[in-house]
Amino acid sequence: MDLKMSHHIEEQSWKQLTSHLAEWVADSHKHTTDGHVASYIPELANAPSDVLGICIMDAGGLTVVAGDSDFRFTLQSISKVFTLIMALMDRGEAIVFSKVGMEPTGDDFNSMLKLELVEPGIPFNPLINAGAIAISSLIAGKDSEEQVARILQFFREVAHNPTLEINQAVFQSESDTAHRNRSLAYFLKDNGVLDSEVDDVLRTYFSHCSIEVNCTDLARMALVLAHNGVDPIRNQRLIPRRFVQIAKTFMFTCGMYNASGEFAMNVGIPAKSGVSGSILSMVPGQYGIGVVSPPLNRKGNSTAGVHLLGKLSQEFDWSLF
Ligand code: DON
Repeated sequence: MDLKMSHHIEEQSWKQLTSHLAEWVADSHKHTTDGHVASYIPELANAPSDVLGICIMDAGGLTVVAGDSDFRFTLQSISKVFTLIMALMDRGEAIVFSKVGMEPTGDDFNSMLKLELVEPGIPFNPLINAGAIAISSLIAGKDSEEQVARILQFFREVAHNPTLEINQAVFQSESDTAHRNRSLAYFLKDNGVLDSEVDDVLRTYFSHCSIEVNCTDLARMALVLAHNGVDPIRNQRLIPRRFVQIAKTFMFTCGMYNASGEFAMNVGIPAKSGVSGSILSMVPGQYGIGVVSPPLNRKGNSTAGVHLLGKLSQEFDWSLF
């Protein structure tokens, strides 16, 4: 297809998006009643169950938003994509993949089952909780405080938003109740996977999970991944291409946890979910997408959010296959 033709198709799609997005959001909204707001982190249980918002951003910075797009939420597991990228930038591939594997698990995101079953006892991938905790310990910094400051600085840069902060209530709530993550971290420590102390690693991990954003921040972060590490709006490279390739591959194979196969089949684009009901996704080479709707299905993914992305993918033939 020549360049002029592909520009024309992009323009048509953008027009269609602008005129129909609100209607598609309204249609997906009914799926908010199919799920339950996460409550294992008590502070997250306060999130409203009737929210659904989306922002889609193109390479020129044009945005189309619909629903409750101003709603603020914490990144939770979405942060794992960007801490993985930081660990790769700080330590390189060889060190990172001596601490975490490259394979999906098929188990729940907080499972510890395979840590004991499979030698050498490293987490299967960097997006399950065990893997992300191992990755947190690889972020450069003399202590957790310095690691968290660097993480916040990097996330602000990628989101192009210097006001991003940690939601302290969510941080404290998770820290007070994270018995399973604590046991995962002790297990990893015993297996020789963590260099630092359990309490320090967990402080770093809970901090990046508690960074607060809205759908526009998510869309901007996704846009940088969609453009292989370049922020196309500022025309500035923020991440080496190879590390974005690794991150997107994990998003595709493990980003929606043990529903990643189903999502790949029905939606067909890289995505990462968080238990706040958020999903960061993208159309490679084109759009960054941020979606939020707190009620989750059994696998920990937003019910209305997944439905809405499925609808959009169908309408615009977004599947990579
Ligand atoms: O460690 C946890 O359980 C949370 N901070 C993050 C988990 C999460 O978002 C899983 N996503 N679907």
